[in-house]
Amino acid sequence: MSKESKIYKNSPKKVHIRTFGCQMNEYDSEVIKTNLLQRGYLFTEESEEADVILVNGCSVREHAEERLWRNLENLRRLREEKPELIFGVLGCIAQNHKENIFKRFPFVNLVCGPHNLPEIFNHIENLNSRTRILAVDEEERDLENFHLTSTPGVEGGSPRRGYVLIMSGCNNFCSYCVVPYLRGREKSRRMESILEEVRMLVESGHEEITLLGQNVNSYRLQATGCKLQAKNNKNDFVELLREVNKIDGVEKISFATSHPKDASEELFKAMRDLPKVDKYLHLPFQSGSNRILKLMRRGYTREDYLGQIKKLKEILPQCKISTDVIVGFPGEREEDFQETKELMEEVKFDNAYIFKYSPRPGTAAARLRDDVPLEIKKERNQVLLELQKRIARRKNVKM
Ligand code: 5AD
Ligand code: SF4
Repeated sequence: MSKESKIYKNSPKKVHIRTFGCQMNEYDSEVIKTNLLQRGYLFTEESEEADVILVNGCSVREHAEERLWRNLENLRRLREEKPELIFGVLGCIAQNHKENIFKRFPFVNLVCGPHNLPEIFNHIENLNSRTRILAVDEEERDLENFHLTSTPGVEGGSPRRGYVLIMSGCNNFCSYCVVPYLRGREKSRRMESILEEVRMLVESGHEEITLLGQNVNSYRLQATGCKLQAKNNKNDFVELLREVNKIDGVEKISFATSHPKDASEELFKAMRDLPKVDKYLHLPFQSGSNRILKLMRRGYTREDYLGQIKKLKEILPQCKISTDVIVGFPGEREEDFQETKELMEEVKFDNAYIFKYSPRPGTAAARLRDDVPLEIKKERNQVLLELQKRIARRKNVKM
């Protein structure tokens, strides 16, 4: 008897999954969901109805972690009502805190980091509420073994938009960022496997495809199994965009995230020339001060960033641009902050996500003194939020 039919014969377990953090985590949750559905599990939106509760979270910022911990603490009471209930903590947050999660939340049964997600289905089958599994390997995740097996349901955003992971990890080691430590080095998926997933999404009615990666411009074609030769050049991502653009039924293609040091003129031209590609670029600048950019190890200057924006506006004047900014990085003085403000005034972003710096254990910046007081971080955050609101309002009136 196959595993699937064994599960069907018993009454199917109901799973409740909550996702905290970025689109990458949303994608991982969808993969878990489609794979578990295929194995005979059911899903529920109500935590009270669940036999298995999974929380999948991001560790990039302290704030996102805090939300997850609060949620988990609130769910604890359900174990008292249902002793057989299984709890799992997944994703970057699991990799970051490892066995400490069991110490802080003794009712948790599974701690599973991003590299171990392909084996999560077996863990869930083997767990009971008295066992504990810690799966937090440091090795790279096998990307070909963890993808959508059917199409996601309609809940959680537009049913017509589907996410496809094209690469995992990051090699950039920006000094504030924990991603390379938790998600490992960059690893690209085979193009054929990406295209197959896009076709599957299209067949089930998805019209908008979002290609995901920490740094999509360093997507590299893999030699094995790919019709196109691996060229190991910077424009492999453009090549991928061209291929996705050819797929019938795809109406719109978007992607995130691009790194200013890797976004190329070829990318901007492809965005202009490929009709299905959304004229929208998310290009985080993080700080307008060269001194801070250097401390952040971003690999570009303020002038380089503005040069990229100028090139983009020349090639594709109607392109919408969004960005990420960090305020209160260690050593950020008033004059550094003013430079960030001026950059925002100059570029006039269509959207900006502004974050207060929080030290992430293990990163290079965590060794610097977190010397900008919280009050100042909050104030700078507020100033940029209001500035962005004013810019957006002015742009809307113009339109
Ligand atoms: N503190 C604050 N913001 C951070 N980000 C990443 N790490 C940190 C940190 N330690 C922000 C960056 C990044 C976005 C996803 O999160 O702006 O682009
Ligand atoms: Fe983190 Fe920098 Fe990589 Fe983005 S590019 S994921 S900020 S290390």
